[in-house]
Amino acid sequence: MNIKWDAEKYTSDFSYVHRYGNSVAELIDAPAGSLVLDLGCGNGALTKALLDKGYNVTGMDASEELLSVARKSYPTINFFQGDATNFVLSEPVDVVFSNAVFHWIEKEKQPDMINCVYNALKEGGQFVFEFGGYGNNRVINSALAESFAEHGFSYRMPFYFPSIGEYASLLENNGFQVKYATLFPRPTELKGENGMENWIRMFIKTPFATVPSTQKKDEIISQTVEELKKELFINGKWYADYVRLRIKSTRS
Ligand code: BEZ
Repeated sequence: MNIKWDAEKYTSDFSYVHRYGNSVAELIDAPAGSLVLDLGCGNGALTKALLDKGYNVTGMDASEELLSVARKSYPTINFFQGDATNFVLSEPVDVVFSNAVFHWIEKEKQPDMINCVYNALKEGGQFVFEFGGYGNNRVINSALAESFAEHGFSYRMPFYFPSIGEYASLLENNGFQVKYATLFPRPTELKGENGMENWIRMFIKTPFATVPSTQKKDEIISQTVEELKKELFINGKWYADYVRLRIKSTRS
């Protein structure tokens, strides 16, 4: 998950990420004053929303760029840098919350992350989260794969999008009880007439590492965008074909 983010663009053009996260936070069932860790807090917008609900919050993220935006925006909140697959808290918390983060963690590393969360929680503590689930961005990733292939490159999707069954088993095998799980499509409007191009440039980084020139990269992107117009450009607006996996679980 070592990605260098354009933190300002992330905040201005992709604000839907934290707007949608508010409904995930509604799954938390804990009294005001409870200790809540926002795991992968990004620019801190949702950490602030959790603070406004009365929780005693901290935010952790791997990205110094995003953390510096978070600290500037919400100077009273404690934000710290950490790797979601390798962290230890000085004091256990009542709730670990996370939005739109776990699809960035490769499948093999998910048990490490879940174990860190287990150790970070008090007994009976809640682990509430949402991320991209099975089928997420299927249309976008297929178009990218086709366009990479036509230019002589291979495309390996750099995300983990599990089903409910797969992820619930992973949680149960690592000490959690699943209380609620849902997988649902959520087509998400992107900002502006270049919304899809901007989305690809913002989020699809590692597959382009093998593409040797900016010109080739631009060609692949414009061909992908052209192809995606047929399905994801609707009434003059771009949509990303998001599918969300939303889960509430408790530490046994
Ligand atoms: C997501 O939130 O589902 C997502 C965001 C960026 C890239 C891939 C997936």
